[in-house]
Amino acid sequence: MKFLITAGPTYEAIDPVRFIGNRSSGKMGYSLAKAVAEKDHECILISGPTKLEAPTGVELILVESAEEMYGKVVDNIEGVDVGIFCAAVSDFTPVKISKQKVKKKGKGTWSIELKKTEDILGSVRGEMNFKGVLVGFAAETENLESNAKNKLETKKCDLIVANDVSNKEIGFNSENNIVTIFSTREDPLALPLMTKIDLSVVIVEHCLRLAKILINDE
Ligand code: PMT
Repeated sequence: MKFLITAGPTYEAIDPVRFIGNRSSGKMGYSLAKAVAEKDHECILISGPTKLEAPTGVELILVESAEEMYGKVVDNIEGVDVGIFCAAVSDFTPVKISKQKVKKKGKGTWSIELKKTEDILGSVRGEMNFKGVLVGFAAETENLESNAKNKLETKKCDLIVANDVSNKEIGFNSENNIVTIFSTREDPLALPLMTKIDLSVVIVEHCLRLAKILINDE
């Protein structure tokens, strides 16, 4: 099977030295890629800026912004059986990137006009015509179940892996996570606290089982 995984944050440039980013370390996405490679499956890992090394046997494609990540997904989605979209993609990006470092002038405020980025996961089924197993993540701070179910439907996913990112012990930049897997075919599966490495093995097995069902259904 061929997997494509997105991981890490995106950085949206404001000027040559400043950017809008987030707290994603890439650990969840890189652990997923490791679990895929250890099962001897092909894996393309499209990653925003992190301090992590690519797991052995994984093809790493580095990007910085949401726009670049979108472009690399478009370039690489053909022939993929399972897409796992774990990256914390910025939902907004500055309308204009200043060519020079913006100088502070006296006291006061600074407003930056933002525009929405492309919803990469939301474009995979439609615009990219992807027919494989589609797995999204949902990073929630409230109403985890209803928000995750909404993402499952609107982004046309087979699975949504939902985590509560208001809990500092799990989620962003932690070795561990607690997730519930929402599926279009099965009841939600609430998993206990696990390392991201162990959790990734469970998620990848789930994807492989689903991929086999879909192939048999064809
Ligand atoms: O990297 P770590 O430090 O290990 O942290 C892991 C994590 C918390 C980042 C990860 O477990 C996680 O929750 N990833 C998804 C983060 C996120 O952006 O969730 P969201 O609910 O805002 O987005 C929903 C889905 O749409 C996600 O699959 C996301 O990758 C995707 N998306 C979002 C916006 C966008 N413009 N394009 C997208 O593809």
